Amino acid sequence: MKILGIETSCDETSAAVIENGLTLSNVISSQTIHNYFGGVVPEIASRIHIQIISKVVKNALNQAGSKMSEIDGIAVTYQPGLIGSLVVGSNFAKGLSLRFGKPIIPIDHIEGHIYSGFLEGQNVEFPFITLVVSGGHTSLFIVKSFNDYQVIGSTRDDAAGEAFDKIGKLLGLGYPAGPIIDKLSKNGDPKKYNFPRGLLLSDDFDFSFSGLKTSVRYFIQQKFPNGIPEEELSNICASVQEAIVEVLISKCKKAIYHYNAPNLVIAGGVSANSRLRNLAFQIFNEVGVKIVIPKIQYCMDNAAMIALLGELKLKEKGNSKDFFKLDFKTNPTLKRSKAKV
Ligand code: KG4
Ligand code: ZN
Repeated sequence: MKILGIETSCDETSAAVIENGLTLSNVISSQTIHNYFGGVVPEIASRIHIQIISKVVKNALNQAGSKMSEIDGIAVTYQPGLIGSLVVGSNFAKGLSLRFGKPIIPIDHIEGHIYSGFLEGQNVEFPFITLVVSGGHTSLFIVKSFNDYQVIGSTRDDAAGEAFDKIGKLLGLGYPAGPIIDKLSKNGDPKKYNFPRGLLLSDDFDFSFSGLKTSVRYFIQQKFPNGIPEEELSNICASVQEAIVEVLISKCKKAIYHYNAPNLVIAGGVSANSRLRNLAFQIFNEVGVKIVIPKIQYCMDNAAMIALLGELKLKEKGNSKDFFKLDFKTNPTLKRSKAKV
């Protein structure tokens, strides 16, 4: 079975073709213009999606050596995300479905990240814990099967990527600051400054990063009122990164033990962080937890994870009438009910 996936929930325009769980193509066009504004500008994002979506889909089909006539279904992200961006992808997919008479499978973006550990033919044993950690999300899930997952904790304020980006702004770094902080940290001492680890010892699986941001702000004002000396910048970055990574790993560990689920998937843009990747592999390998952190192109927003889920859903239900309904609505926000701990 071949599935075309389309993902436009934020500022990446992506299309992919998946065949029997394997990626034939995964084209991702990132909108770097937002770097200039220090954050994603929704109006600009949707306009760029409109301009390039047709080309991105064509490229994905070409790279997969496939024609629309050979595609068995179209999977598209319909929630959550920026409303204007979601509308572009889902309307484009609806148009293709109508024109070529193909089933259309609406996919939840976060669900895509949750199961992204299965990309590239990898197998993750159920039950497992997934940490979705990006600029917009920081949540932990207990995943029992393909249809059974529940959120067990999420951030009460800023997402981890948002914390990297906002603290980067305080430090005078560019946007997105996560990769810059990651790079500068390599020359810094992570123990030089002891920044707060929000909710590290709380009884639940929630996160909080706004206290860290405020603490860094006051720290800079008090310690370096005349500007941060260059040699201290790497130390501050390394110390901030350590505070974020330590909390992320500690909450994963806690969830693994609590749910007796010795398999872990970490996905989302922040999973590109080298300290998070290294420390997670080191800590979890030592205690026999199987850990999957997909390659960067499957961690960031991508259509391959959307197509993968589309294929699973289509295989499960067959060409059900539900998959020919074109009246599904895009949904920018989604409140998931949290599992009782
Ligand atoms: O998943 P993503 O591409 O987009 C969404 O937020 O949906 O994630 C982008 C976020 C940004 O906040 C960026 O600063 C962060 O991921 N990020 C990183 C690294 N690479 C990207 N954060 C820390 N270290 C990195 N290497
Ligand atoms: Zn995402």
